[in-house]
Order: sequence, then C-alpha cells, then structure tokens
Amino acid sequence: MKKHPILLTALALTAACGSPKGEQAIPADKDVEAKVEQVLKGMSLKEKAGQLVQLNISVLEDASREAIDPAKLDYVIGEQKVGSILNVMHDKAHSREETAAMVKLIQDKSMEAIGIPCIYGLDMIHGATYLTDGTFYPQEINIGATFNRTYARMMGHAMAYETRAAQVPWVFSPVMDLGRDPRWPRLWESFGEDPYMQAEMAREETLALQGDDPNHIDLEHVAVSLKHFVGYGVPVSGKDRTPAIIAENDLREKFFAPFLACFRAGALTAMVNSASINGIPTHANAVLLSGWVKEQLGWDGLLVTDWADIDNLYVRDHVAADKREAVAMGINAGIDMIMDPYDPACVDDIVALVEEGRISKARLDDAVRRVLRLKVRLGLFENPLWEHDYPYFGGHGFAHESYDAALESLVLLKNEGGLLPFKGTERLLVCGPNANSLRTLSGGWSYTWQGAADDFAPQYNTIFEALFDRFPGKVSWVPGVVYDPADWQKDLAINVPQAVRAAQSADVVICCIGENSYCETPGNMDDLNLSANQKELVKALAAIGKPILLVLNEGRPRLIGDIEPLAKAVVDVMLPSNFGGDALAALLAGDENFSGKLPFTYSKHINALHTYDYKVSEHRETMEGSYNYDAVMDVQWPFGFGLSYTSFAYSNLKVSAETFDASDELTVSVDVTNTGSRPGKEAVLLYSSDLVASLIPDVKRLRGFDKVSLNPGETHTVVFTLPASSLAFVGADGKWRLEAGDFRLSCGGLSALVNCTATKVWDQPNI
Ligand code: BGC
Repeated sequence: MKKHPILLTALALTAACGSPKGEQAIPADKDVEAKVEQVLKGMSLKEKAGQLVQLNISVLEDASREAIDPAKLDYVIGEQKVGSILNVMHDKAHSREETAAMVKLIQDKSMEAIGIPCIYGLDMIHGATYLTDGTFYPQEINIGATFNRTYARMMGHAMAYETRAAQVPWVFSPVMDLGRDPRWPRLWESFGEDPYMQAEMAREETLALQGDDPNHIDLEHVAVSLKHFVGYGVPVSGKDRTPAIIAENDLREKFFAPFLACFRAGALTAMVNSASINGIPTHANAVLLSGWVKEQLGWDGLLVTDWADIDNLYVRDHVAADKREAVAMGINAGIDMIMDPYDPACVDDIVALVEEGRISKARLDDAVRRVLRLKVRLGLFENPLWEHDYPYFGGHGFAHESYDAALESLVLLKNEGGLLPFKGTERLLVCGPNANSLRTLSGGWSYTWQGAADDFAPQYNTIFEALFDRFPGKVSWVPGVVYDPADWQKDLAINVPQAVRAAQSADVVICCIGENSYCETPGNMDDLNLSANQKELVKALAAIGKPILLVLNEGRPRLIGDIEPLAKAVVDVMLPSNFGGDALAALLAGDENFSGKLPFTYSKHINALHTYDYKVSEHRETMEGSYNYDAVMDVQWPFGFGLSYTSFAYSNLKVSAETFDASDELTVSVDVTNTGSRPGKEAVLLYSSDLVASLIPDVKRLRGFDKVSLNPGETHTVVFTLPASSLAFVGADGKWRLEAGDFRLSCGGLSALVNCTATKVWDQPNI
C-alpha cells in the first residue's frame, strides 16, 4: 500500500481535534444513540460491511427490467447484506404504487435476512422527479431566479411528501454546487452563482424536506443528501467531473457556505464531489470529509460517495493501485457509504480490509453507526414500511405552487418599444427547436436521468400549445430547426425557408431556442455559443423585418451576443418544467407580470466569462492601475437583472449605525415603490462592498434579498438584518476576518457608507 499524504494529514487532524468540539450540528438524542448501540452490538463483520454499501437497483432487476429477480435479492440482500439501494428500475420513473411495491420486496427481504431495514434513495431533484404521477417544480436554477425563499420551501415540502408516499425515505437533494461556470453542464441543478443565495435557498429546502427535528423524521419528511460536497461546479476544463483548482480561502468562504448552512440546519447526509480539488480527489480528501465536516462541525451524519467514485480513485484518478486500496482510502478519509452501483462484492472488499487491519474496527464501527443512526432517525426500525394517508399526492395544490414558481422565475431581459405584453390581436408565429417540447422545458432529472418529459407527461402544455390556447386563432408553428433524434445534443435545420415564409404573414415571430435536455457528462460541450443552426434561423427570420421575441429555454447561459441585437424582446425561461409553457403564455399576454431576475451572470463573450462578485482589480471602472488594462465587464446581462411591466423606485436607504464592530448587527431598510401602472413583484437585493481589505476585495457581495408584491402607487419598506460578521471574509491564512475600514451597502441604485471600527480575526474555522 502506498503511503498517502492525504491520509497522514487526516490522521494528524483527527488526533489534534480528538472528539468533536465546538459546535454540534445535530444534537445527539440518547434514545437514538441507545438504539444504534443495541443494533451494532449484535452485528457480524459481514453485516457491518454490508451496511456501508449502496447498489443500483439494476443489480436486482430480472430480464424484463421491470421486476425484481428473487434469486438476485437472495444474493444481494440475503448473502451480501447490502444496506442500501438507489435509483429507478429500467432507468425510468414509475408510479407511486409501482415504486412502493418494489421497495416492499426489498424491505421485506432485508428485515427477514438482516433484521435491519434497507434505506432506499432516489434522485428527486425538482419535485418528485422519478415518479410518473408526482409533481414537478421548476429546476433549482428557476427557483433561484424567483429570489423568493417560499418556493424553495414549497418544493422541498412537496418533494418530501410525495417521495415518502412511495415508501422512499431519502432524496439526493438539494443540489448546492455554485453555478459559477456556464460551461459546466450542471449549472441549472443549482440555485445560481451566489453563495449566500444558494445557502438561503438550500437551507429552506433542507428544512422543508426533513422538518425541524433531524432526530425524528416523520412520515411526511425524508432525509436529504446535500450535494456534491464540495467545490464540484468549477472544473478548470468546464467539463463535468474533471479537476478543479480552488484557493482554500474561496473554498471555505464561498463553496462551503451553503453546505455549512444546511449542516447547521440538521442535514442528515451529504454526497461527495465526484471530481478533485487541487489535485486531491474529494473522495480521498480526509481534511475535507473528516476534518471540515465531521470534526469541525461535530456532525454525526453520513457521507455517501457519488456514483462509482471509489472505483474512480484507481480507474480514473490513479491515486490508488486497485479496488481494495481505493475502498480503504475512501473509508479512511471519511466515507461512510459506498455507492458502488454494480458490485455487490464490494462488501467482501470491506470485510477483507478490516481483517487485514487496513480499515480499523473503530472506523468501521463509526461508519456503521452513522448508517444505523440515519435509519433510526428516519424511524425505519419501527416502520420499515409505513401506512399513512397522502391525500395531497399529485394534487392541484402542489401543481398550483409549481405554476406560481414558474411564473415568478421567468426573466424578461429585453422589451424594446413595449413589444410585450401582447395586445391579443397580433398573429404569432412560433419557431425553434424548443417551441413544442416538454423535454426541453423540464430538462434533465425528469422521468429519466437525461430527461424525457414528452414521453411521460403529454398532458402538460409546450410553449406552442400554451400560446395556442391563450391566443385562439392567432398562433401558428413552424419549427425551422429541430433536435436530432439520432444525436439529441445536436440540432438539424429542417424547414427554415418555410418558417421564413410563414413569418411574412405574422406580426411577431417567437423564436424558442436554447438547448435540449441533458445532465452530467452527456451535457459537456466545446462551444458555449448557441448552435449555428439556431442562430442562422434567427438571422433568417430577422432578415424580413418582423419583430422578434427570443425565448431562451436552456440550462445555462448560451452565448447569443450576435443575435440578441436582432430581437426586440428576450425572455429567459431556463427550465421551468411542466407548467412553464402556461406560465410563459400568461406573462406574454400580460395576465401576469414578470418578476424573475437572473441568478447568474449572462456572459457575452467566450473569453470573458464572469461572475458578479469579481475582484475590483478585474474591471476598469473599479480600479485605477499603472497598466493599460483592457479589463471591461462586458456582459450580456448582469446577475440580478430582470425587467417588469411596471417600474419600481427605491428611496430612503437607511442603516441603523454609521459605525460598527464585529459584535454588532446592522439593520438596513429601504423603501420600494411601484411607480408604474400594473401590480408587480420586485426582488430587492442588498449588496456590500469592502472598500479596502488585506486580500483584493470582491467588487460586491449579495448579503440579503427579499421579494415584495406592490400595487401601483404602493410603497413597502424592506428591512434587512445584517450581522456584521456576515461581512467578514477568509484571509490568506485561512482565518475569517472582518477588517476595520469602510464598507458600502447598496440596494436598488442607492448606497450608504458605514465604517467598521475594529479588526476582528476568528480562530474557529466557521463563524
Ligand atoms: C450524480 C449524482 C446522483 C447520483 C445517483 C451521479 O451520477 O452525480 O448527482 O445523485 O448519480 O444517481
């Protein structure tokens, strides 16, 4: 076995920390702990090893792939004593009843053969996305665009309720990787690029999924799996699951922030980042897994690997020589459960490693305790299966919430000459590959991994269908470009001349463009520009001079700098899911008002990808230097941008004190008035700027947000509470610091200067 610096660091760190101290993320419950110890006492080594393994349901499927093979069940659960199963049969969603029946077979076997309940986990990503009859909400990126915490809560609540109704107690949600690189194919799974917003939304979702008492999860709540811990979203190459380089202070200050918020809210499990940071595969990073989370937070929850990522330690990353070394490396670094999708023999590897002393009995027992604790907290020992009424399953209530969330998430980016809302008299031509597709509205993790909403949910409206219903007799459809059925990430120009002809007799052309659905590696790409076929379609349609509305239906901001000037209006719908077509129609008709704002920076140039919190020294306007810098933030639309059919004025920005120190809490208030003629909602965003700091400061940081609903002429005072410590940053030495000096607080174009009177440096890793 090779000696690993990562492991040595971990051991040193464990020795230094001893037992958990400082915070305890989840309060220990003595009855839960007593039950864990009682079960642990009676377990054989093989049973313990089995609890640390999670397999894909495919290992149990018979040849039809729609039923469980009893012989495989005997082997996997009966002999190998595997403690957890994940995913959907035949790689597609099933109904609640079918799912529950499948779980029952596994659970009955587990209770009979091991006497310990199996824990089933599913990728419920934006609602009950692996149930054919469950409710889908807009993807997280849209929930971010609402800037309204209510929808994160609603989505979490419905997701928990409907998942539990199918006898599944564990979801691999929320996703909280920061969407800071638009090349990365999972940007849309996050709430956006900002750490604070991500933390706020993910905490709401976590609390809604688990409820308030992590020690006793009831029959309408589930355990979360925060993912992917940590720093997954910024691969250097932009390609999924490839290495990232992240400065340690950024890792702590920005990437860890959402996880910290959710661990403190009681999150019971977390899934590990599939890739690597600064050369260390996260699955082997004891400093992060055992150090940052378990030791520093006193967290007694469970860390599960991502898909086959122990194998990746030797197959892909070459930090282990073989499977056994990889298993030892992961478990010794802090992994408690191995998602080893296809290999029941992983259990034997763990047994052998313990017998050889390469995994200590203490580490084994610690990991087993964490698995058992999760099962006890979920009540699975008393109720391996449960009887409970779920009258709201798949009902109108959740559907309405989903529709409302979609309404608040669509972002109006341009509206020249008041093209929108439509008067109702215009003849509308709808074009583009996204015009008549449910798959593209929902995106990945929708009925299947890569998304297949058209096959499963024809009852919902595409954009074309929703417009057709809303504007009877006024709407026609000629796609011009379609996605290639043989290679679904490509598109084909099929009838552009026909679309151009049809445009001649239309008053407005609505081009629905963007991306087909995708998820993870299949969504990798080499060019962030929107496809050439789609751009050519827009150019051909623009050439005849009719007003163009671009509807962007995409999981990440594809570059459109050359076609945006051809459009009078632009709406980014992102991935609003099953009710997105209806929501768009209502907004375009003016039945409702736009209130979404971009939760990411929409870049314009491929060599100039930005986030809003760039360094002051990156921008000519914010710095003066002795070089001829050409750094200009020339973005298509900035973070937080979004228009409305009404207008809002900000006034009276007030801060409770002009000076403060680290122990203070500032109150910031601002008046927001609806100065237009329609009711509207406004997302109010509060930023801070540290004017001088020992590390080059970010130009600004989001510190608060709220959404207000105002009638014409109405004013509302929005109040933010800002602990001074939230203005701190992580310095070069890895310590949190709030430095004396001036800060600018800004909101809606207004700003106020406040002064921090004394520098404070914190010794503890998290504040
Ligand atoms: C993804 C995870 C997901 C897991 C289980 C992986 O490929 O990265 O987000 O939870 O599969 O389906």
